[in-house]
Amino acid sequence: MTDGTTRPVHVTGWGRYAPASVLTNADLERMVDTSDEWIRTRTGIRERRVAAAHETTASMGAVAGLRAIRTAGIEPDDIDLILLATLTPDYWMPSTAALVKEAIGNTRAPAMDVAAACSGFVYAYASAHAYIASGMAKHALVIGAELLTRFLDYTDRNTCILFGDGAGAVVLSAGDGPGGGLGFEMTTEPQGAYMIWLPAGGAKAPPSAETIARGEHYIRMEGKETYRFATRTLASTALTSIDRAGLRPDDIDLFIPHQANIRIIDAVAKGLDLPMERMYVNVDRYGNTSAASVPIALAEAVNEGRVKVGDHVCLVAFGAGFTSGAVTLQWTADPARGIAGDAAVRPEDVQVRLPVDWDSVDPIPAALAEVLARPVAPGVEVPLDDVAPGEPEHAHPEPVGR
Ligand code: UT7
Repeated sequence: MTDGTTRPVHVTGWGRYAPASVLTNADLERMVDTSDEWIRTRTGIRERRVAAAHETTASMGAVAGLRAIRTAGIEPDDIDLILLATLTPDYWMPSTAALVKEAIGNTRAPAMDVAAACSGFVYAYASAHAYIASGMAKHALVIGAELLTRFLDYTDRNTCILFGDGAGAVVLSAGDGPGGGLGFEMTTEPQGAYMIWLPAGGAKAPPSAETIARGEHYIRMEGKETYRFATRTLASTALTSIDRAGLRPDDIDLFIPHQANIRIIDAVAKGLDLPMERMYVNVDRYGNTSAASVPIALAEAVNEGRVKVGDHVCLVAFGAGFTSGAVTLQWTADPARGIAGDAAVRPEDVQVRLPVDWDSVDPIPAALAEVLARPVAPGVEVPLDDVAPGEPEHAHPEPVGR
């Protein structure tokens, strides 16, 4: 990897979208043999979001992407590259990025998906940086979007408690001043290929009644091996990117680690000999949103005032493959712009075009739909920007905890 210094590339926009519906640990207690206490102490997760039936990876990615464009203060057609990281695309083809391009009103950009599981956003960020640094693009939209709740086996307590839905995005832009992306690292270790995988649906095992009967269309995971990989790799991947930026770990004001498990984030802090205050954490509210986790966390950290102009930030992720990736950057954008950017885009104003002459089946797993159909408690406030188009505003009985 290069140090990426050909021409400066800055984050100029950021945005996020989280579906309104909340699945709590108490809900999961009704579905599998688990407990709120086990989930909280072993993972740090309290709740996760679930996309509504009419939402897709593209629709969530488009809202987050348009918010990032508004934050950057540019027009959709100023974007000349769209990269969308996901392991839950709407279709095998076309790319989800192509659907997002149309939904946000862009006519110029090449659009493609990036498949590197939970490291996907960091891989896409590094790729977009390279395009801009080399002069092939000026403004890139980089999105991480996932709809994992439709790929989970709600009888498998090892996986169904971990994951949630959402999307985050950044706009990367060519700039003249110093700062922006400074150091990059990406690794792939295929010996971990079958530690997190989704067996059926691809060329090796095309979808059939038999693959469905075997439950091979659901995510499978060897939790312990994945945990070992994460704790072994995250700190070293971050260190390499920090070193390439010419910095030391103590120079990093805030780490934005992949939000998979609070114990993994804690291990990274220990591995870098830094206090947990330097780690941004929101896994408690979203669970693991795979490629969406880092950009959602980045957008929230900036909007919460955790990142100031001049700060050094390290984004670091790991995931299936096994993959890992890190970007060390210096923040240069006015943090106050993000909240206005989010408010400028209402989810109901962003439409992903549907195919003609084709009806989708109900996409929500039956066990999940049953639990989410519980009665609404009075007085529950869902943040307006999280309200999904067509959904009631108060769709869950517990506070969102933002
Ligand atoms: O983005 C990458 C995606 N994947 C990950 O990041 C996963 C990384 N791995 C992990 O986060 C952890 O390994 C898990 C959270 C998945 C599991 O935690 P653990 O501390 O490694 O637990 P374990 O798998 O060793 O299981 C301990 C016990 C077992 O029972 P016995 O055999 O000791 O009687 C499990 O059967 O906990 C049991 N268990 C559960 N109990 C209640 C496993 N899942 C659950 C559950 N509720 N949901």
